[in-house]
Amino acid sequence: MKIRKIGILTGGGDCPGLNAVIRAVVKSAVRVYNWEVIGFMDGFRGLVEDWHIPLTEQTVSGILTRGGTILGTNNRANPFAYTYDSSGKTIAPLDRSKEAILNLKKNQIDGFIAIGGDGTLSISQKFFEEGVPIVGVPKTIDNDLNGTDVTFGFDSALSVATDAVDRLHSTAESHHRVILLETMGRYAGWIPLRAGIAGGGDVILIPEIPYKIEKVISAIEKRIGWGKEFTILVVSEGAKAVGGEFVIQRKVEGSHDAIRLGGVSYKIAEAIEEALGIETRVTILGHLQRGGTPTAFDRWLATRYGVKATELLNKGETGTMVSLRGTKISSVPIKEAIGSLHLVLPDSEEVQTAKATGVSFGD
Ligand code: F6P
Repeated sequence: MKIRKIGILTGGGDCPGLNAVIRAVVKSAVRVYNWEVIGFMDGFRGLVEDWHIPLTEQTVSGILTRGGTILGTNNRANPFAYTYDSSGKTIAPLDRSKEAILNLKKNQIDGFIAIGGDGTLSISQKFFEEGVPIVGVPKTIDNDLNGTDVTFGFDSALSVATDAVDRLHSTAESHHRVILLETMGRYAGWIPLRAGIAGGGDVILIPEIPYKIEKVISAIEKRIGWGKEFTILVVSEGAKAVGGEFVIQRKVEGSHDAIRLGGVSYKIAEAIEEALGIETRVTILGHLQRGGTPTAFDRWLATRYGVKATELLNKGETGTMVSLRGTKISSVPIKEAIGSLHLVLPDSEEVQTAKATGVSFGD
């Protein structure tokens, strides 16, 4: 089928690089294929409510370096289990996917690009099964999607986390303190693992390697024995003790995964202070990891992803997600990316490298 007009949206939590993808999609759609583009607002909510704006080369000019998304986003607007009423109040889930599909028809959309993580891509797969010609672009700071070596947004979050590890070193050293930096990443330890290695963290605690508090304490004691009176711990929000549970901060009902993790570091800090009597502080990095301008790597990756997404639509290769394998941009069926998570392997070369350089994982 000849494409004349495409739609695009950004779904789930935001991250640096979303605007760079939107820009690349619009520019390549207009320049290479002569298509019109419209952007649906606030994730899939805009598709159900029919909120959209035209996207032209003028609209996307100047957004390459801008954080966030000019389209807005939403992490609890699933058209198959929609929880908003007409005034925006929360209601029991309703299937409004048929209306979303009618809105695509009404707007004469011949192809669709959804930029998002596991939640957005799972919804995209359902729309694909309902006959919508859709292509996905993998986004998340967590880097936890299968089917690709890396998601865009991860490198920017990593750079913020590494900078935080660097900054905490000088203050921890001056005050002879233990400082825990808690990072995002949900159930995947990529951010703390790489920021810990890059920033020279002494202890890295990730969900994939449950910790024993005695081991964490003995790693700090070992440093004290060398005359190092400060220690930096890089802790995932999903870190948990052997046989322990995740620390849940809140629940966001209607979200793909309602659980929001956070606060495990306070528990660990208390145990360290109690055992060693050293002043122990916590810094929770939070949404700083999601804000601001994307790194050069993320701008480069997002641009390549955006151009590849329009190429896939043009070739009719829908139900797919763009992907990076090694240095090559390719694609995989969306089905391969969703359902299970891309996690750190405890015996991987990366973890062994950290251990060989003296990092303790508390195991
Ligand atoms: O998935 C991205 C992410 O930032 C996670 O790392 C974090 O656990 C979660 O989203 C936070 O979500 P929210 O913005 O709803 O608090």
